[in-house]
Amino acid sequence: MRIIHVVGARPNFMKAAPVLRALQGFSAVRQVLIHTGQHYDANMSDVFFAELGMPEPDLNLQVGSGSHAQQTAAIITRFEPTVLEMQPDVVLVYGDVNSTLAAALVCAKLLVPVAHVEAGLRSFDRTMPEEINRLITDQLATFLFTPSQDGNDNLMREGIAPEKIHLVGNVMIDTLVRLLPLAEAAVPASLPGRFALVTLHRPSNVDDSDTLQLILDMLAWLSNQIEVIFPVHPRTRKRMEDLRTDQINAPGLHVVDPLPYLEFLGLQSRAQVVLTDSGGIQEETTFLGIPCLTLRDSTERPITATIGSNVVVGRDMGLVRLELERVLNGSRKKGGIPPLWDGHAGERIANILAANCFPAVTGSGE
Ligand code: UD1
Repeated sequence: MRIIHVVGARPNFMKAAPVLRALQGFSAVRQVLIHTGQHYDANMSDVFFAELGMPEPDLNLQVGSGSHAQQTAAIITRFEPTVLEMQPDVVLVYGDVNSTLAAALVCAKLLVPVAHVEAGLRSFDRTMPEEINRLITDQLATFLFTPSQDGNDNLMREGIAPEKIHLVGNVMIDTLVRLLPLAEAAVPASLPGRFALVTLHRPSNVDDSDTLQLILDMLAWLSNQIEVIFPVHPRTRKRMEDLRTDQINAPGLHVVDPLPYLEFLGLQSRAQVVLTDSGGIQEETTFLGIPCLTLRDSTERPITATIGSNVVVGRDMGLVRLELERVLNGSRKKGGIPPLWDGHAGERIANILAANCFPAVTGSGE
């Protein structure tokens, strides 16, 4: 039994790690890890493999950056011969990045079953490239592993056969549960007592210079009230350099390089508030019960707002400032943790694959 995992971009790594670990419990399974090379900077990729305890990828397709068409096409072209050579029994893809869609498309055409981890999430906003990736990957997958009931509801509405859909919980939270003690132990003593943590990389926030300027104005204002730590994604770094704005020199605004997983998780667990446009950070703050303001018009993870500590605040910086003032004045949203976000989603996935793909094999993912 041969299983290929395909990862490519930063948020894929913490999702694949628990599934790889759970499948190690099945002696007849040979696992192959393929990195597309979508993310290639050491601080966007290598450091995560080390901290998550993941094996080195068996192969790196080294596709690098490009337009969506170029990047997706390069992955398709380079991944197809690998699938033909390795003849996997199932291929696991993660999340909603271009690597996810490209690998799923190759496998569907070669009649290799695809398992999509984090299926069913929908922002209902097709201007987001990730929404296109989610919709198509879910149509092509044989196994659809969802993190929450809304994922099941979306897939049923899109006509996916119910027997393909498995509500397993959140694999990203598996990694958080496992590594939170280490992350908390590694929090530097020099950390400010009160601080806001910021991440931004969505094209809708950073590619338009007027929008980015308004966000940086808001961050400079915020940094007068509380220290602001802003680890900057390479895409955002480039846009900020193009903007040549003074706001990033505000004394309380700490603009730093992207951080490793443990360090970033430690910061999240101590932050007064997190401002983000990431998907995964909405989930992590929900689990940690830390107030999160999402600078987007929609979220594909509504459960983080209905149950969790997330507020989808939009991109009107006046409203963002009002919401920040509320949080900093102590009016925090008390969130809960969604069902099955318990650290065992990877094991559920391994057991479902075992029951369906290799039932004769003994062993346990528990
Ligand atoms: C990708 C995902 C996004 C995810 C994000 C997490 C898609 C469509 N988007 O967005 O869903 O939330 O990863 O980080 O797949 N760059 C570097 N070094 C790197 C990687 C990127 O300098 O290691 C720069 C390049 O200029 C590149 C740009 O960042 O063109 C964007 O990278 P890309 O992988 O296309 O998209 P992300 O914005 O990272």
